[in-house]
This record gives sequence, structure tokens and C-alpha cells, in this order.
Amino acid sequence: MSVIFSGIQPSGTLTLGNYLGALKHFVDLQEDHHCYFCIVDEHAITMPQDRLKLRDNIRSLAALYLAVGIDPGKSTLFIQSEVPAHTQLGWMLQSISYIGELERMTQFKDKSQGGGRDGVSSGLLTYPPLMAADILLYQTETVPVGEDQKQHLELTRTLAERFNNKYNSIFTVPEVSIPTTGARIMSLQKPDKKMSKSDANTKAFISMLDAPDTIRKKIRSAVTDSEGIVEFDPDNKPGISNLITIYSVCTGRSPEELTNAYQGQGYGDFKADVAEAVVEVLSPIQEKYYELLHSEELDLILDEGAGKANASAEKTLKKAKKAMGLGRVHQKRS
Ligand code: TYM
Repeated sequence: MSVIFSGIQPSGTLTLGNYLGALKHFVDLQEDHHCYFCIVDEHAITMPQDRLKLRDNIRSLAALYLAVGIDPGKSTLFIQSEVPAHTQLGWMLQSISYIGELERMTQFKDKSQGGGRDGVSSGLLTYPPLMAADILLYQTETVPVGEDQKQHLELTRTLAERFNNKYNSIFTVPEVSIPTTGARIMSLQKPDKKMSKSDANTKAFISMLDAPDTIRKKIRSAVTDSEGIVEFDPDNKPGISNLITIYSVCTGRSPEELTNAYQGQGYGDFKADVAEAVVEVLSPIQEKYYELLHSEELDLILDEGAGKANASAEKTLKKAKKAMGLGRVHQKRS
């Protein structure tokens, strides 16, 4: 069985974008792959976090993973900071990363904007080698992510190859897997921008925990255009195309099928149906989420996950340290 790894930051309630671009696909993958799913809390602290909120967000994300259908009997679910090998290998990979290549990362450029050099955490710059460590520790073959992570995955491949060539061929060079539909769910208010949980305007995103009426309101007020034709054309009609994508991934109906079905109808009915499709997907997830959130079961699953992840990660870390010449070799008694 091939190995899959993916991670999500516990930096706020997940959005519909996180679900449709990533989480939803994880559930199918666990049937015939060896999957590791991680709550990457050490990545989250590259941006300022409130201590207590971070704690809540970590637990909340764990409950969401399980609520969407991640099965601890099939997948390993764990918290990054409970597996020390991540930061250890992260440091080693940082040592073979170049400042130039890290500064070219779009996410670094976006997130560091406006802060000035003195106000931006250096962790934001060195984030990709830590992400590479997450992936490479498990000899991962495939990494399912949304489109915004593609550049980080390319760097992960570069670092794996650089390490393998320079020291010893230890790491599997992973492939990225990006869904054909839903890889980039856009903001409901500015459909030329990615839907993001950190958007100051809460109308721009649907949280996975939004109540049905909030979801209906947000979709009703989604920015579209004045043509009134339900047509899939992301360049010229990004707002309506984004809603078609959301509808399509939620129902499994293709964008063509949907545009045909809504020919000659205005945006009102269409938006109402998109909203119902989203509510139908999120409601059962929310129900399970609230059952799990404060359960002891959740802690037991995370404890077990940390144990399994530590065992695999330690094996790779040991090999990588040896390849780099870190530590020492015990002398035999004479
Ligand atoms: P994060 O936490 O920002 O997002 C988690 C996953 O959700 C996807 N995603 C989206 N997909 C479609 N449309 C959107 N609007 C949207 N917004 C987010 C992301 O592509 C991602 O798959 N750096 C990563 C976390 C990470 C990681 C890893 C991922 C750390 N280590 C190792 C994979 C492997 C991040 O910040 O994702």
C-alpha cells in the first residue's frame, strides 16, 4: 500500500475550501493507502496565535478530521508537535535550503506583506523545509492538497533530491495530488481571491461549522455578475463559476450537467440550490463533530496516532542523521 501524507493548520475553523480541496479526498484515499493525517500546530505558530485559542483549534481540527470520516482504524491521525522528529528533520532540511528559494515562495510573499522585515516571523520564511520534513519522514509517495500548496510540494521534491544526491538516497520523492475540481475554492466576496479562513470579511468564506441559515445567507450574498446566465467561465464569470464548482463537488454532478440544468433560470434559484447542497454536506459532519469534540475517545485516538507516527518518523530520522554525520557511533569495548 502506498503512503499518503497531508496536513492542515489549526489556525481557525476550517472553510468549505479546506473541505472540498483537501479533507473530502482524504476520506476516499484511506481505503487503499497507508495514510498519515496531521494537525500541523508547529506551522500555525509562524503567525501570531492566542495560546488558548490554538489549544481549542487543535482539538477542533482533530474532531473535524474524524467527523468527515477519517477512520483511526485505517489512518494515523496525530498532532505535529507530539512527534519531535518533525522539527528535528525540519532543521536539517533548513540547513540545505537556500534563502533565495525560500523567499520566492508565494505564500511567504503574501503573508509577509506589509509587516516589514522586523515584523515578520522568520518561521514564515523557513516554513517549507518543516513542511518537507512532515512529508519526507513517512517516505510519502503522494500528498493530496489544494492548488495553493503546489509550490511547497515542488520545493519538497527539490529538497528530497538534494539530500539524496548530497548525502545518501534516503527519501522517497513524493508526488503531489491536486483534485481536478475544487482545488481552488474562491472567496464569496472577491472571487478572484482564494477562500481563506483568515479573511477579515466573514461573508467571504463558509466555515465548516456555520449554521444552515448562515450558509444560506452567505451564498445568497455571494458576488456574481449582472448577466444572470449560469455558465462555467472562471476567467470572465469567476463568481458564478466558483458556485458551480462548489455545487459540483458537493453533489458529484459535473459543471456541464449543472449549467445545462439551470439554463434559462436566474441566479436566485441556482444560489438557493447551491446553499442546500452545502448544508446537506456539512450538517451531518457538524453533528458528529459536536459528539466527538469533548470526548475521551478523541484523546485516545490522538495518543495512539502519536505513538504510531513517532515509531515511523524515528526510523527515517535516524537514517537521515546518520547520512548527515550527526551524533556519534558508539565505540566497541576493547
Ligand atoms: P492549510 O492549513 O492552509 O490548508 C489545508 C488544506 O486545504 C487546502 N485549501 C484549499 N483548497 C481549495 N480551495 C481553497 N480555498 C483552499 N484553502 C486551503 C490546502 O491546499 C491544503 O491542502 N502548508 C499547509 C499545511 C501543511 C501540509 C504539510 C500539507 C503542513 N505540512 C504537509 C501537506 C503536507 C497549509 O498551510 O495548509
